[in-house]
Formats: sequence, C-alpha cells, structure tokens
Amino acid sequence: MLAKIQETAAWIKSHTTLRPTTAIVLGTGLGRLAEEIEVIETFPYADIPNFPVSTVEGHSGCLIFGRLGGKEVLAMQGRFHYYEGYSMKEVTFPVRVMYELGIQTLFVSNASGGTNEGFKIGDIMFITDHINFFPEHPLRGKNFPTGPRFPDMSEAYDRGLLDLARTIAKEKGIAHVEGVYVGTSGPTFETPAEYKMYRVLGGDAVGMSTVPEVIVARHCGIRVFGISIITDLGVEGKIVEVSHEEVQKAANAVQPLMADIMREMICRSC
Ligand code: HPA
Repeated sequence: MLAKIQETAAWIKSHTTLRPTTAIVLGTGLGRLAEEIEVIETFPYADIPNFPVSTVEGHSGCLIFGRLGGKEVLAMQGRFHYYEGYSMKEVTFPVRVMYELGIQTLFVSNASGGTNEGFKIGDIMFITDHINFFPEHPLRGKNFPTGPRFPDMSEAYDRGLLDLARTIAKEKGIAHVEGVYVGTSGPTFETPAEYKMYRVLGGDAVGMSTVPEVIVARHCGIRVFGISIITDLGVEGKIVEVSHEEVQKAANAVQPLMADIMREMICRSC
C-alpha cells in the first residue's frame, strides 16, 4: 500500500511543478471554491495511477493544482464515499498521497443534517469535533509509519484554524454555528429515531463523509479545518422527507459564503 501511495505521489510530482502545502476537499454542492482557483493543472482521477476507480458514471472528479488567495493549493473536486462501496483504504488513499506531496493543512467541507435544535437549513457549521460512526476504522490493519499505532484525537480539528475562522467570519459579518459532526456510512438518511440518538450522543450534525479523511490526515500530522453546511434538519417536529437534490440545492445556496471564509483562511494561514 505504501509503495502505491508513493508511486502515485511521484507520478503527480512529475506532472506538476507546483508544491502546495494546503489541500481542500470539496463536498456535495460545494464545488464553487474550485472555480475561484487559478487552475494550473487538472488531473481526472481516472488518469492518476492507483487512484480509486469511480463507481458513478460522469462523477469521476479531479485533482486540481493551482493558486487561491495567493497560495498554491491542491483541491479534490469530488471525494470517495464509503457508501459507494470503496474500502476505507480507498476512501482515504488521496489523503495519504497528500501527505507524501507535502500537504500540511487540510480544509474539508461537506453537507449534513442538523440535529441541534438551534440550527436551521443553510447554517454554516464550523466543525469543532467529530464522532466516528463508520462501521470500519480507516486505520485498522498494519500501522502506517506516518503516525503512532494509537493516535491521539484530542484535537482533531485545529484550534488555531478554528480561531482564525471565527475572526474571519466576524470581520466579514458571516453568521456561523459550531458543533460536533457525526460521520456515518449512509447511504440512507436517518430515521427520526436515529437523528435523536445522534443528538443524545452529542452530535450537532450528521453526514456520510469527512471523518475517515480527517482521521488519516491527523495520523499524518496534517492539521485540519472543517465546514459543514446544514442542508436539512433531523430535529423532532422539523423532519421532512430529504432528497439528494435538496441537499445539493441547500449547500449550493451558501457556498459563496463558505468559499469566502476558506479563501481568506488559506490566504492568512498557510
Ligand atoms: N444525514 C446524513 N447525511 C446527510 C444529511 C443527513 O440528514 N444531509 C446531508 N448529508
């Protein structure tokens, strides 16, 4: 596995002169930030050696190298979800490659269902912590030399980056909420009883991604900042039928604000 990761990183390095230390993972309906990148190189996942093969036609995604906020960045347009059938090693493979490429800071975004009674659709949630509810752990198996066998998770989401995000949001007058993201396998959205359970367990929002990537990033010593867009509500009395289209629509509506925060953070932090 390590040989494959290094082979992929070597291939990428030989195809671009850029050496970014910042990476971004763009979630559902949140691809707009990519449009603001001054793109230097685009690699469709299908062209990158050892990259997982897409299961959804026309949904393959690409790795973008370019400049944003005056900094060199690497952006993943489209991620690999566990519910698509990828193994945890495949889901987190790009993060392992990022480490080999010299990435030190990772910005992640996603869409989620809010379980916090105070949240509303369209809220921008800074992720302060997570609960891993995936049925398989991304670090299960032989330990990678990037980190210890039993990695610390006391600060999965970097406090310095969170403070910077708060400052920027305040300066720009962008309202935000903060909370704990629960990562589940999906692909079903939650039953009302499940939303309630996640709330009781300490979750403010629930979604189907991010947690595996963040765990592996932390195992690689990469600092992480995460934003979740609340696209539907799993709050008693406010639960209505959810569809992927509605999730995309709700995420799409606030993505300019999210992009604004992330761009400014990249400009100031890296
Ligand atoms: N549950 C799980 N994943 C999601 C949701 C949700 O309500 N909304 C967007 N992604």
